[in-house]
Amino acid sequence: MNENASDPLSVVVTGGGSGIGLATVELVLQRGGYAAIVDGDVERADPLVRGYPGRLHAFVGNVIDEQRMRQVSEEIGQCLSVSVNALVNCAGAPSVAASIEDDTVEHWSRIVESHLTGTYVSCKVFGSAIAGSSTTGSIVNLASVVALRPGPVLAYGAAKSGIINLTESLATHWATANVRVNAVAPGWTDTPFVRRTDRTEKDLQTIIDATPQARMLQPVEVAEVIYFLISSASSAVTGATIVCDGGYVAGSGWAPYGGFRRRASGAARP
Ligand SMILES: NC(=O)c1ccc[n+]([C@@H]2O[C@H](COP(=O)([O-])OP(=O)(O)OC[C@H]3O[C@@H](n4cnc5c(N)ncnc54)[C@H](O)[C@@H]3O)[C@@H](O)[C@H]2O)c1
Repeated sequence: MNENASDPLSVVVTGGGSGIGLATVELVLQRGGYAAIVDGDVERADPLVRGYPGRLHAFVGNVIDEQRMRQVSEEIGQCLSVSVNALVNCAGAPSVAASIEDDTVEHWSRIVESHLTGTYVSCKVFGSAIAGSSTTGSIVNLASVVALRPGPVLAYGAAKSGIINLTESLATHWATANVRVNAVAPGWTDTPFVRRTDRTEKDLQTIIDATPQARMLQPVEVAEVIYFLISSASSAVTGATIVCDGGYVAGSGWAPYGGFRRRASGAARP
C-alpha cells in the first residue's frame, strides 16, 4: 500500500463540469476528498461548488492552452488546502460523424487537439507537478471503446487510441516517481456528450442494441472505475486500460449472427 494511503484525495478533473467528470467529482467529495474542476463551461457544476465550500473549486479554461493551465495550477495551489495528488482527464469535444471524403482537416484537428493534445497538456502541467512533489499520485485518462473498435470514426478514435499510448508512455516515465497513469475506456454513457442534438432516438437504440447489457451506462458507473484507479486500492495498477462498457467490446463479434438474445426481463440493472 502506498505511503500516502491515508491522505485525502485531492483531484484535478478536466472536463469536470459535466457528465463522467462531474460524477467523478461528486464521488470524491462524498468520500471526503477535495476537487478542482477545470472546464470550458463550469455552469452545471455550480450547485456542487455551493454544496462543498472549501472542498471544491471550479476554473474556466481550455485544456489545450498550456499558459492558462499553468495559471489554473497556481490558483488551485492557493485555494485547496490539500496538495493535488490525482488528475482525471475527461475534457474533450464531441465529434461529428463524417466519412473521410466529407470530413475536414479543421474538424480532425479540433477533435485530436481537445482530446489528445488536451490530455498531454494537462499531464504536462498537473501531472508533472504531482511527479515533482513528495506525494504519491495517480492520473486517469479517458479513452473509449472506440479506441479499440473504431468503426469508421476517424479523429475521435485516433485521438483515444493515442491517449492509451500516451498513458502507457507516462506510466513508464513516472513509475518510480510514484505516479501511476491509467486509462478508462467507457462504452456509451448517458451524458450530454452522447445526447447531442444531432443524435436521434434511433441512433441511441442502435447503441443499446450493440451493448450486451442492453442499456447505456450511467456516468457514476464509469466514475466508480475512475475512483478505484485514483485511490490507493489500485496501488499496483499502472499503464493499464480498464474497459467499462456493459460488454460492448466483448460482444462486438456477435453482430453477424443476428444480435444478442434479450431476456423478457429487459436490460441489465445499473
Ligand atoms: N459519454 C460517453 O459515452 C463516452 C464514452 C467513451 C468515452 N467518453 C469520454 O469521456 C470523457 C467525458 O465525456 P462525457 O460524456 O462526460 O462528456 P461531457 O460532454 O458531458 O463532458 C465533457 C466536458 O469537457 C469540457 N470540454 C470539452 N472540451 C474542452 C476543452 N478543450 N477544455 C476544457 N474543457 C473542455 C466540456 O465543456 C464538458 O463539460 C470524454 O473524454 C469522452 O470522450 C465518453
